[in-house]
Amino acid sequence: MARKQKTPRWLEAARRKGPEAPVGPRADWLARALGRAGVLPRAGAEQAIRDGRVEVDGRVEKEPFAPVGAGTRVRVDGVEHALTRRVWVLMFHKPAGPVVHGSDPEGVGTVFERLRAVLPPELQGFEWYAVGRLDRDTTGLLLFTNDERLVRHATEPRTHLPKRYVARVEGLPSEAALARLREGVLLEDGPTRPAEAVLRSPGVVVLTLTEGRHHQVKRMLAAVGHPVLALHREGVGRVALDVAEGAFRRLTDAEVTQGLGFPSGEDLPE
Ligand code: URA
Repeated sequence: MARKQKTPRWLEAARRKGPEAPVGPRADWLARALGRAGVLPRAGAEQAIRDGRVEVDGRVEKEPFAPVGAGTRVRVDGVEHALTRRVWVLMFHKPAGPVVHGSDPEGVGTVFERLRAVLPPELQGFEWYAVGRLDRDTTGLLLFTNDERLVRHATEPRTHLPKRYVARVEGLPSEAALARLREGVLLEDGPTRPAEAVLRSPGVVVLTLTEGRHHQVKRMLAAVGHPVLALHREGVGRVALDVAEGAFRRLTDAEVTQGLGFPSGEDLPE
């Protein structure tokens, strides 16, 4: 029996609003638009809306999913904010330790907390999404963005964005082991795509993958007999890590469009 699709809450809210609901590529819902515009991160925006601190076109709006458009006038605590939507991408140098998860039951700390601790006030109001995952003990380049479309673009399998890892491994990988990594290794979840694999120094393998499966580098290297001792990511697309551990910087528009292959402009798919 076909399962009944649940109507998204933003669509219910837009239907309630009727023909006045903003439409078009710039339409959004209130809590998300505030997060994308850097006014308040999503959870803070939802709370502020429920608390009656947000006005839309002169009226208090208590529905976080209320539709808004480019021309909507929004005030938070009496201060008017433009809902300007601009894609930001941050390069962050992840240290070993924090998890790339919103929840942290073990209390080890999250990368979101680490990032927020070094962000200037003008970047605190955004909702930041991690672009893909790194294991807790993996260091290196982790991208964050305020736009979920970029997360989807960078992580969906068909994008094949190259990710360059440097792994210190047990033993000294032979040319035959590197050839297996290049051709594809059979893992429990299927064969890996062809990859680049070079020996940078004895026991240090640089592996460039165009897919992102769970623990993929560790599983591939273990499969060829060289378990990983330490793992670091130094590049994503054509963007190479160039900030110190624990620090961040904004990517330029050229790095976003050319380095990550993310289309610019307003005609991006939602
Ligand atoms: N592959 C892994 O095994 N771990 C990571 O953190 C990233 C890729």
